[in-house]
Amino acid sequence: MFVVTGAGGRTGRAAAERLLAQGHPVRAVGRSARRLAGLAERGAEVWEADQTDTAALTDAFRGADGVYAVIQPNYIPDHPDFGAFQDQVAAALTRAVAASGVTRVVGLSSWGAQHAEGTGPVAGLHRFERRLSAVPGVDTLWLRAGYFMENLLDHIDAVRTLRRISAPFDPGLPLPFVATRDIGARAADELADGTWRGTEILELQGERDVSMREATDVIAKAVGADGLAYEQISLAAFHAELRGNGVSAGVADMMAEVGNALNLRHTRMQQPRSSRTSTPTSIERFAEEEFAARYHATAQR
Ligand SMILES: NC(=O)c1ccc[n+]([C@@H]2O[C@H](COP(=O)([O-])OP(=O)(O)OC[C@H]3O[C@@H](n4cnc5c(N)ncnc54)[C@H](OP(=O)(O)O)[C@@H]3O)[C@@H](O)[C@H]2O)c1
Repeated sequence: MFVVTGAGGRTGRAAAERLLAQGHPVRAVGRSARRLAGLAERGAEVWEADQTDTAALTDAFRGADGVYAVIQPNYIPDHPDFGAFQDQVAAALTRAVAASGVTRVVGLSSWGAQHAEGTGPVAGLHRFERRLSAVPGVDTLWLRAGYFMENLLDHIDAVRTLRRISAPFDPGLPLPFVATRDIGARAADELADGTWRGTEILELQGERDVSMREATDVIAKAVGADGLAYEQISLAAFHAELRGNGVSAGVADMMAEVGNALNLRHTRMQQPRSSRTSTPTSIERFAEEEFAARYHATAQR
C-alpha cells in the first residue's frame, strides 16, 4: 500500500491515479474527503489529515510500502510567513515518516533546491529535503521538478482580455517547463519500482526547454489568440502587481525572488538532460489539452 499526500492536488492526484491504474492499493491523504471522492471511486482509501498534523499523518503512514510527500500548495497568497508554513508541514511530514516506520519516500522538491536561499519558496523545499533526508533508515528520492506548465494557467484572463502574457522572466530564458501529470506519474513509478537507496536527487526537466516567448507563441496558436505577445515586466512592477492583488508582502517578496533567481541562473538544473530527467508532455500538448480547454471553458461562463 502506498500513501499519497496532497492527493487532492495536481501531482498528488496524478500519482494516486497512476498507482491505482497499476493495481496498487492507495491511501489518499488530504484535508477533505469530499475533494478526494474521485479517487475513492477509483478504489483509493481516503484519509482525512491536515498536512501540519503529525499524529494524523503518522496514522496515515503506518503500514505503507512508500509515501509520496508533498508540501502544498505552491504558496498561500495572503499568508504572512509562508516559509514558516512550509517548515511546519515539513516538520509534520518528517516526524510522521520517522514515527510510522516508513522506509521509502518520494518527495516533491524543485529545481534550485540545491540553494539554501535566494530562490523564493524553493528555499523551503531545500529545508524540507535537509530535514527529511536526516531521518535514519529511510530511502528518499527527491524529485526536483522544473517550472510547472500549469503556472501558465494564471495568464488565461490576460490572454483573453489583454492579448498579453506578462512575467518577470527574460523572454528568451530557457525554462524546463514540466507538466504536473508527468511529475505525479514519475512519483508513482519510482514508488512502485524505483531502485534508489539512501538519499537521491532526480531532476524532472520536462520534454525540452522552452522560453516564455516560445510558450506564448504556442499558446497563441492553441487558442487562436492573434497578436498575443510576451511582455517582460520589472521585478518591482511584478511585486507591485502582486501587492495590488492582495498578496502579502512576504509572499510577494518570495515570488519576486523567483524571477530574479531564474534570470540570474541562480535557479538552474544541474543534471544532464537524459531519458531519466526528461518527461513526455510537450508544451504544445499542454497548450491544447489543458490551456485551451480551460480558456474555452471559462469563456463560456
Ligand atoms: N509551481 C512550480 O513551478 C513548482 C515547481 C517545482 C516545485 N513546486 C512545488 O510543488 C508543490 C505543489 O505541488 P502540487 O502542484 O501537487 O500541489 P497543488 O495542486 O498546488 O496543491 C493544491 C492543494 O493544496 C492544498 N491547499 C490549498 N490551499 C491551502 C491552504 N491555504 N492551506 C493548506 N493547504 C492548502 C489543498 O489540499 P487539500 O486537499 O488538503 O485541501 C489543494 O488541493 C509545492 O511544494 C511547490 O513548491 C512547484
